[in-house]
Amino acid sequence: MDTQFIRNFSIVAHIDHGKSTLADQLLLKSGAITQREFKEQILDDLSIERDRGITVKARTVAINYTFEGQEYELNLIDTPGHVDFHYEVSRSLAACEGALLLVDAFQGVQAQTVANAYAAIEVDLSIIPVVNKIDLPVTRIDEVLEEIETVLGLEPDDALMISARDGIGVDEVFEAIINRVPPPQGKSDAPLQALVFDSKYDSFRGVMTYVRIMEGTIEKGQRIKFMREGTTYDVLDIGQFRPEMRVCDRLGPGQVGYILTGIKDLGQVHVGDTVTDARQPAEKSLPGYQLPQQMVFAGLYPTDSSDFEKLRDSLQKLSLNDSSFSYMAETSDALGFGFRCGFLGLLHMEIIQQRLEREADVDLIQTAPNVTYELLLRNGETKKIDNPQEVPDAGSIQEFREPIARVNFILPTTGIGPIMQLAADRRGTYISTEYLGTNRALMIYELPLAEVIYDMHDKLKSATRGYGTLDYDVIGFRAADLVKVDVLVKGNRVDALSTIMHRADAERRGRNLVKRLKKEISKHQFEIAIQAAIGGKVIARETISALRKNVTAKCYGGDITRKRKLWAKQREGKKRMRQFGQVEIPQKAFLSVLEAG
Ligand code: GTP
Repeated sequence: MDTQFIRNFSIVAHIDHGKSTLADQLLLKSGAITQREFKEQILDDLSIERDRGITVKARTVAINYTFEGQEYELNLIDTPGHVDFHYEVSRSLAACEGALLLVDAFQGVQAQTVANAYAAIEVDLSIIPVVNKIDLPVTRIDEVLEEIETVLGLEPDDALMISARDGIGVDEVFEAIINRVPPPQGKSDAPLQALVFDSKYDSFRGVMTYVRIMEGTIEKGQRIKFMREGTTYDVLDIGQFRPEMRVCDRLGPGQVGYILTGIKDLGQVHVGDTVTDARQPAEKSLPGYQLPQQMVFAGLYPTDSSDFEKLRDSLQKLSLNDSSFSYMAETSDALGFGFRCGFLGLLHMEIIQQRLEREADVDLIQTAPNVTYELLLRNGETKKIDNPQEVPDAGSIQEFREPIARVNFILPTTGIGPIMQLAADRRGTYISTEYLGTNRALMIYELPLAEVIYDMHDKLKSATRGYGTLDYDVIGFRAADLVKVDVLVKGNRVDALSTIMHRADAERRGRNLVKRLKKEISKHQFEIAIQAAIGGKVIARETISALRKNVTAKCYGGDITRKRKLWAKQREGKKRMRQFGQVEIPQKAFLSVLEAG
């Protein structure tokens, strides 16, 4: 295929601005899908995505489109729009020459619009601004155009006006892709260099590797080499997504598709790697991508300990499909056998947890999530900490470092005051404010990541009545006065409730935490002391008084059905409880740490 007639592009947007709808509309207009399929939003095929309306996994589709009598191959690389999935955005963008920057005609430029636009600018893509949802009864088109100019530095006159839902302006989108996105470069007879920009596990076919050919040609039967590890394989099959998988004989420069090599383990295919010919390898590999960074960790434990193996199987299955999620067996005195899992962010964690509960049919107890910390020890060693329980004795720590995020808030100007207050409470460093028109502003802060992931999103939403958005990037680690706070229930330390916090907040949070726990843990036959402590020093205490009467005792002498009902109810309630010593601690208590801010 002549590269002159190929265009590779992505659609980048803030969540819900209509990326999937536009992608489907492009498929519909080009005849790749039917009206009925359009309605079913075929690009979001993971049911969980449809439930939450979030595109999680990047997808790619080849579309044939005839313009002025010439047939073009347009490769659309779908990117996820959420803050946790930055790395997937960056990998897919590097496989393109252009991007449609989609902005909602009412909501305007939002935090992830900015983040995604910058990512596209960084890799030198031609950016086509597209204002979507112009059919809405109320729009702010002029202001949105002004935002596109002031925040993103793009020419507002270049913007297209469309309704992805109603199919208005879609021909102009095709025309702009063909006229404004440069065709790919590359020679078909050069040594093969193909960029791996994604991979997916298929239970029948094994690992499917998604590639964009930069130089040369890849053919069925060819012996190829993954340059990073030096491993070689035969290409068993090769094809494109149209949108269903369709095999072809070869892919030439500029083309995008999948290859099957019989690899069974997703961990062997590295995104950002270069595929070359095993016999005539390219001299150099292509510049790689940034690796996905797991910054959030939490423990997942089966409520019923006999489900441990079932949980392990499900975690293994999930990680086959999502190499950015990790798990390791661990034990907790309080929770028994379980797994320590690493996620890209909170949303990623929620999605994994939901999938597990749904697909594995295992009831889970989850511990409060924490971020990764870095320790400089007195013996000169540095140590990464993914679990508060790994924090050594305070005496051996020279410096305790926490990850810092650079956070962009886009919000109505009425939200500026509350956010400044919030950021000050959360140890934020103010960087800048930029006004977008008269009513909205972009504020930038540096904040500890731990403060961002816990509840910043909810706090922002309530401070701005739902209109504020945020986006963050981890910029590094910084030393802070951090301590590990332990929780003791009836004198026993509950390891899964330990948390790392700033010393200045420890007393207040410790007090809130024990108060919360008091509410979550029900009365027992005896008194229960709940304490928060740093090292040996108790900083807060609450007491749950003993039950006065035995509830079942009341039924003695009579009504057996009532007694049975009561027992059944108690059993139900126990499902998500953990017996710790003599005390029963419900699932919710393990997340109290989050609400103790
Ligand atoms: P994520 O996949 O979650 O990132 O969202 P997305 O950007 O792909 O948005 P999606 O296409 O799922 O659209 C979000 C919502 O906006 C859906 O309810 C769409 O029906 C609606 N929508 C998309 N385009 C239009 C449009 O042109 N007009 C109107 N009125 N609604 C639209």
